[in-house]
Amino acid sequence: MCGIVGFSSRSVSACGPLVNGLRRLEYRGYDSAGVALASERDIRVFKRTGKVAELDRLLNAELPENERSTYTLGIAHTRWATHGLPTEVNAHPHVADGGNLALVHNGIIENYAALRAKLEARGCVFVSQTDTEVLAQLVATFDRGDLLSAVSQALKQVEGTYGIAVISRRHPGEMVVARKGSPLVIGVGENATIVASDVSAIVSHTRQVIYLKDGDVARVLPEGVDVFTLDNVPVSREMQEVEWDAGAAEKGGFEHFMLKEIFEQPETLRNTIRGRLDRVDGTSVLAGLNLPPRDLASIRRAVIIGCGTSLHAAMVGKYLFESLADLPTSPEQAAEFRYCNPIIGPSDWAVAVSQSGETADTLAAVRESIGKGALVSAICNVVGSTIAREAGRGVYLHAGPEISVASTKAFTSQVTVLLMMALKLGRTRRLSREEGLRLCEEIGGLPDKVGEVLKENDRIAAIAAKYAEAEDMFFLGRGILYPTALEGALKVKEISYVHAEGYQAAELKHGPIALLGEHTPVVALLNDIPGKEKTIGNVQECRARRAPVVGVVTAGDDDAARHCNDVIVVPRTSAACAPIVTAVALQLFAYHLARIRGCEIDQPRNLAKSVTVE
Ligand code: G6P
Repeated sequence: MCGIVGFSSRSVSACGPLVNGLRRLEYRGYDSAGVALASERDIRVFKRTGKVAELDRLLNAELPENERSTYTLGIAHTRWATHGLPTEVNAHPHVADGGNLALVHNGIIENYAALRAKLEARGCVFVSQTDTEVLAQLVATFDRGDLLSAVSQALKQVEGTYGIAVISRRHPGEMVVARKGSPLVIGVGENATIVASDVSAIVSHTRQVIYLKDGDVARVLPEGVDVFTLDNVPVSREMQEVEWDAGAAEKGGFEHFMLKEIFEQPETLRNTIRGRLDRVDGTSVLAGLNLPPRDLASIRRAVIIGCGTSLHAAMVGKYLFESLADLPTSPEQAAEFRYCNPIIGPSDWAVAVSQSGETADTLAAVRESIGKGALVSAICNVVGSTIAREAGRGVYLHAGPEISVASTKAFTSQVTVLLMMALKLGRTRRLSREEGLRLCEEIGGLPDKVGEVLKENDRIAAIAAKYAEAEDMFFLGRGILYPTALEGALKVKEISYVHAEGYQAAELKHGPIALLGEHTPVVALLNDIPGKEKTIGNVQECRARRAPVVGVVTAGDDDAARHCNDVIVVPRTSAACAPIVTAVALQLFAYHLARIRGCEIDQPRNLAKSVTVE
């Protein structure tokens, strides 16, 4: 987790770019923040608990404008605590060598306790409880006049993951960065070089970027970058142009990123679908999958792996792969998968789903699957992310940067990609061209259908207001809508802190029904697809226990509507597309619930956007 930024220039003060960069990365963690600024003479460190705004206030109070211009090099960090409480002492940057060396770190040094004991035996004194301070001290002990080599030697002793940036008063004008298991991107601009955990902190300076690979260490100067292996062998890393511009990462007039991202979905889905439907052969064109029909047809089983919202997309994928392609499929929670010694081999297809492409458990599951000889593909949003690169083949979402911690547009794009994969798979197995063409038509129509759901925004807000005081809620779904029920409940939990649970509609009566009463609303997914009648039966069971029912109902379906206290209308779709329109309705419901309850929507407590720890 955590976000890091580094800035190196000959003429521009590092202060503003570092703080602005941190703001862009706050989604990665926001319990404390800090910055180390270097001039020819000194290094000054400023830290604050809380959000980046607190750090900014501190800088404004303690570093007058006229002094800032001398600090043209610096590193900064926004933290999501792993080792030690979110205090000022534990906040990064951490210093060593009497304050001459400063380091920021994203990741976990697993053998930090052993390293710390060794350093203490040699007289090092530690002030924090963090693994990062150990790394800072370790680098300082290796510094014999070459910062890059000191960093490399220290990193060779380290087990774990890191994205780091280091500066030292003994090496003016120089910054050294390195990565293993945590993302790090270097933007090469005209007057400055900027380093960050994610391109969103870079694009306002430049779109020319270099993605470091695991095991790379780089010397960063205002004029550019030299990359090496830890054994000091120079390597060349290609410069790439980022598609996203700075505007794409702004709120665009919406009150929250989450709402903006919900409303972007007609467009993001268009981008996900663009150029990928073959309306002649009734299939999809997913070039990045790089699996010819012969390979696709020989797959015996699929596992779709993810965490959080991506796991819910994976669960929808099971229904799609099985119903459209007759392919036995199991969705897998990534951490469970990696540690259960999974039975997976060359005739299996492992599909990793990850918005960020950096989730540690999902990455480990990818490595496990590759190691066991399975075919591996990834569905990621962030281009060049670790999972996308390591899987080697896959499909990008093209949904643009998702800033809100609660995932919305990524989910609908993930399900759409899985749908297009199922279509392609299905055409190699059992779907006729006509069936394929019908599905192409449906997928192509999804952006407009989602647009229709968005028109219900005010009505959904009014329904959310009616239930805003509830402290417990249930979401019921059957078949392909069950994962959407889980996703609806997750959205509510994440941003409004209301206890919400998703259940298979029929399972409710096996226990949870004991909790129902007039203060426990039930959101029932009653789309007019096979299974609806049965779910209506479950709704009646809830109402018989006085629980108020909010039904998600297909437009014009009065029969389903009359069983509900309140109705959220969605357009008619086939079963395969129902999770997408329904999820959008539930995103709006959760958003308004949180807004009415006065919650901090884009950065909910205790969460982080990208979970790069196990
Ligand atoms: C975190 C985020 C979730 C996300 C999950 C998986 O928990 O808060 O919104 O669904 O990680 O992230 P990924 O980037 O792998 O999709």
